[in-house]
Amino acid sequence: MRIAIPQDTERFGAVLIHGVQHVWELDASLKQRKDAYDDSNVIRRISYEELHDIEQQMAVVVPMRGERIKLVEGVLSGIPNNCLVIIASNSPRHPVDRFALEREAFARFSRFTGKKIIVAHQQDKAIAAAFRQAGYENILDPETGLVRSGKAEGMIIATMLARLAGRKYIGFVDADNYFPGAVLEYVREYAAGFVLSKSRYAMTRIAWHSKPKIVEDTLFFAKWGRTSRNTNHLLNSLLAEYTGFETEIIKTGNAGEHALTMELAMQLRYSAGYSIEPYHFINLFEQFGGLPGSTLRKKLIQEHVEIFQIASRNPHMHDTDKGDEHIDEMTLAAMQVIYHSPICPQKLKKELLEKMGEMKLSSENNEPDDTIYYPPLWQIDLAAFHNILAERPFAPLLVPTAKHRSLPKIGPALPEVRNP
Ligand code: GDP
Ligand code: CO
Repeated sequence: MRIAIPQDTERFGAVLIHGVQHVWELDASLKQRKDAYDDSNVIRRISYEELHDIEQQMAVVVPMRGERIKLVEGVLSGIPNNCLVIIASNSPRHPVDRFALEREAFARFSRFTGKKIIVAHQQDKAIAAAFRQAGYENILDPETGLVRSGKAEGMIIATMLARLAGRKYIGFVDADNYFPGAVLEYVREYAAGFVLSKSRYAMTRIAWHSKPKIVEDTLFFAKWGRTSRNTNHLLNSLLAEYTGFETEIIKTGNAGEHALTMELAMQLRYSAGYSIEPYHFINLFEQFGGLPGSTLRKKLIQEHVEIFQIASRNPHMHDTDKGDEHIDEMTLAAMQVIYHSPICPQKLKKELLEKMGEMKLSSENNEPDDTIYYPPLWQIDLAAFHNILAERPFAPLLVPTAKHRSLPKIGPALPEVRNP
């Protein structure tokens, strides 16, 4: 891959946000090939070998709920063979057991390709028991005693499984992507971010090239959807309040396509539902922004949390049957978590209330509802969590409990943040 180095970078405490990077070539050959265009001041050539080295330490998570199996098989075909695939499914089991059909299809896929695939159901009793045992009960629905529904909750399950499988990086791709080539590209770009990163705490987020739409019989390549525009603007406003400089650096507020180092994935607090992606930024600012009330360890200030935003080349096309209501839901979810953050300044809160009023998402004087938050996963005792999953069909793909000592220790990067 040949990729532009970031043109600008904004800093918020220990968090570095790099501007969007463009990909000039998807494939820039082997390490050994020396040519006149190797590296320059503005472009970095990343070889196959460097990408491969990261990919074999990566788990790629596919969260899904009732997607068509054919579509998901396309997504799987785009994931490099040496990545561990983790499918977190919340598909219905009654009246037809769709999950059973999925499991069968993915097992067949695995037999034909030799790809390692963990298939887990979000409502699996053993997974619920593992979280209960670990004292992570917030994730359980009090009525059913099982893990709550929602994409975020599926992602959290998968993150724990990736940790137990000993993977160093974790990436997410949606199951409803029509282009396997785009999926492959995302994974390569996740890896590229980690090749470029100098920190243990890094995240790569994909800025979509475009979303093709049919407008009056012709194909139109839209750059920004309404939700992204709105979420990015709000996150940038928050950043500007603290730096004193207006900025447009954040372009990936809603990036479902993103990847993290396991060390960072274990530090973050997560929010439920569709706010999980924008909340990454908020929580990074809360935890690592160095605001009054928090103490950043000196080492971390030197090491930084790095956020890369990479503009993909393939158009992004996913299932768009989900309608306008869904868009409003996503917009509101982002606004809620910004509004309720202890670091959200009064001025921005006012703007948010006005906006929600305009969009008829809530009345102007009412506070928006808050959502559920999940504490950082490093707190979970790995052995206790793992033991309960011993009988599950995917258990052989996890690092055996007896070898847990070989898993890197991950504790808190920072003391808990108090309100500023
Ligand atoms: P959009 O692409 O942001 O409009 O949202 P989608 O509805 O396509 O959801 C993104 C991904 O999350 C898709 O792969 C869905 O199948 C998946 N997803 C949605 N809800 C759930 C859920 O409750 N659990 C899991 N595990 N995945 C879900
Ligand atoms: Co989708």
